[in-house]
Amino acid sequence: MPTVPFRGTTISAMALKISVIGTGYLGATHAACISSLGFEVIGIDTDASKIAALSQGKVPFYEPELEDLLSQEIASGRLTFSTDFEAIKDADVHFICVGTPQVKDGLAADMTYVRGALEAIAPIIKAGSLVVGKSTVPVGTAAALRTRLLEINPKTDLAWNPEFLREGFAVDDTLHPNRLVVGVTNDGAENILKEVYAKNLIDGVPWVRADLPTSELVKVAANSFLATKISFINAMAEICEAAGGDVTVLAKAIGYDPRIGNRFLQAGIGFGGGCLPKDIRAFMARAQELGAHQALEFLREIDSINLRARQRVIDLVRKDLSEDLVGKKVAVLGAAFKPDSDDVRDSPALDIAVQIHAAGANVVVHDPKATGPAAKRFPALTFTEDLNECLKGAEIVLHLTEWKIYRELDPVAVKGLVKSAILIDGRNMLDRSAWQAAGWHVRALGRADSR
Ligand code: UDX
Repeated sequence: MPTVPFRGTTISAMALKISVIGTGYLGATHAACISSLGFEVIGIDTDASKIAALSQGKVPFYEPELEDLLSQEIASGRLTFSTDFEAIKDADVHFICVGTPQVKDGLAADMTYVRGALEAIAPIIKAGSLVVGKSTVPVGTAAALRTRLLEINPKTDLAWNPEFLREGFAVDDTLHPNRLVVGVTNDGAENILKEVYAKNLIDGVPWVRADLPTSELVKVAANSFLATKISFINAMAEICEAAGGDVTVLAKAIGYDPRIGNRFLQAGIGFGGGCLPKDIRAFMARAQELGAHQALEFLREIDSINLRARQRVIDLVRKDLSEDLVGKKVAVLGAAFKPDSDDVRDSPALDIAVQIHAAGANVVVHDPKATGPAAKRFPALTFTEDLNECLKGAEIVLHLTEWKIYRELDPVAVKGLVKSAILIDGRNMLDRSAWQAAGWHVRALGRADSR
């Protein structure tokens, strides 16, 4: 069995035992995927109901492919879950995958869970083991955590290994990442991570070794860039509306330039979810602390453009309903922040639905997967999983999350259900000419007739 030199000791590579602390979106996916590579994995969480569900192969959120993989790995005997931190004592590598949500009273990330996880595991992990942070954290966190870890348990080490998975593609992104970034302070830590990711290395996945701060920055820089791309095209949408242009044609045309690329240029109601919005805000807050706030001033504008897109849809609805929303039925197609997910955190679709409801409209929201989580957050809204019920008698239809089933709708049949055939395509994804041919008045952000 090959061995890996590490801090004066050796670990049998094929026998590495792995723990995953925090079994939310990131942790549950990571645990199941690492187990599928043949490692023995223990997932830990303080939430007993989450652990009970995962132990039975049930994923407490919607993510394609994950439930099958989870059941398969539990059945293999390699993957187990526990609420008891003592269960990680034997593990060689400990991945910290807890959340870093936005604080309630500011822009910064809440580091309570990351610090708590480190304090909980530091005294009990064995000599020679490696703690690996995967959570998205403000730059400087990893170095501070490493100092603290070595104070408590000097024969251990800490590395950072940011995660870039997208919801809806979490399993594939984890098993086949487009790059692996490891923030380390020595070769020993890097070698351990090379064993964990040996299969990816054989597959030729690019491997980037960085220092701790750079590895933390890679993640927020990547998400800031993606957010900037989306807000850029949404700014172009505003200009197209003002000048009588068509942002979808503009995006296609600039996207052919390989330096620009055509991905993440889909104009519409903008970005949401548990990452992009909070990551750009936390990045600004951290830059302020570092005295480098000017460098990220532009992210404030990125955030504003993004939130403005939501308001622009609300303005269109007001205009189409002659400024009087009270009692009017508005059919909202989509609640999740993006398709193939039931995540409604900072969802642009849900935000628009809530604001239109607050203006007095009778809003009925449909989503194939997210009505449960959405109703938990906003119980005052009406939700349905029956698309016909959502559309029946509607005075306006808003397409806000681009689920495939909405693209498959027959505009002629839908016209027979609604009271007024007015459609706002908030994602620029429906076949405008087909809907128009069926007699619909179609508006979409960034296209001439949205003025
Ligand atoms: C993102 C990053 O893509 C991922 O690498 C990181 O690890 C976590 O954050 P995710 O939050 O799953 O992933 O969503 P993503 O697919 O990036 O979409 C984010 C938001 O942008 C969605 O609300 C989506 O609807 C919106 N979006 C995306 C657009 O409005 N236009 C686009 O062209 C692309």
